[in-house]
Amino acid sequence: MTQSLFILTGSGVSAESGLGTFRDTDGLWAKFDWRELATPEAFASKPEQVHAFYNARRAGLKKASPNAAHLALADLERAWLARGGEFLLVTQNVDDLHEQAGSERVVHMHGELKKMRCELCGEVHEAFDEITMDLPCLNCREAGGLRPHIVWFGEMPMEMDLIYDQLEACDLFVAIGTSGTVYPAAGFSQVAKQAGARCLEINLEETDTSPLFDEARKGLASQAVPAWVADMVG
Ligand code: APR
Repeated sequence: MTQSLFILTGSGVSAESGLGTFRDTDGLWAKFDWRELATPEAFASKPEQVHAFYNARRAGLKKASPNAAHLALADLERAWLARGGEFLLVTQNVDDLHEQAGSERVVHMHGELKKMRCELCGEVHEAFDEITMDLPCLNCREAGGLRPHIVWFGEMPMEMDLIYDQLEACDLFVAIGTSGTVYPAAGFSQVAKQAGARCLEINLEETDTSPLFDEARKGLASQAVPAWVADMVG
């Protein structure tokens, strides 16, 4: 039996919750230039423009709710832990729809939209709805240091030690709704495979990393993920 499950999700798992993706034709990076909004350099030169972008995404998240894929993954986690298995859900997404659906073993390697970090004292807090540069940090009380608790291009993703430990220990690696174009996440299937895991890709279409996978399930996440979970939970 598959003892240790490692699930990696991308924006495709939240697409049907209305949050869109990054690289589909109507994706976020088709509408906005990530160089102007999702890099430390952009934040250093135009912090209020970057805050406005994330404030708008945070507002959009309030209108979104988990879809059947998020709910099925929460069911799978409970079933897997109940039978004594290992389970980790690593998401590249900054929304909290996995948690809203009931997932608990969740790692946000690219940060979280609903959190903010003070660059002056390092404290992480639940984000204000609207973060601006004149708002003081709740901890050090200084203004001018608050930023989204998001990993920007060129920054180190979070929890990488835990992630690589789990990748090397898992029996089954499943990538759901990710294009496999952004590293290090795009390299996770290779690490898992080299450590002996089977690799399954669940996506709407072929991706750059599809050849690395042992199995693929094509379809909308809201349909393909519950079907796969039903097979897994038996
Ligand atoms: N069901 C299943 N898969 C879907 C669906 C859906 N309803 N809609 C889209 N997809 C798939 C697309 O086919 C694509 O492979 O989801 C993937 C989305 O790819 P991207 O837009 O590149 O998103 P993602 O892989 O999460 O991007 C990774 O890039 O910009 C950074 O930090 C950002 O975390 C993000 C990272």
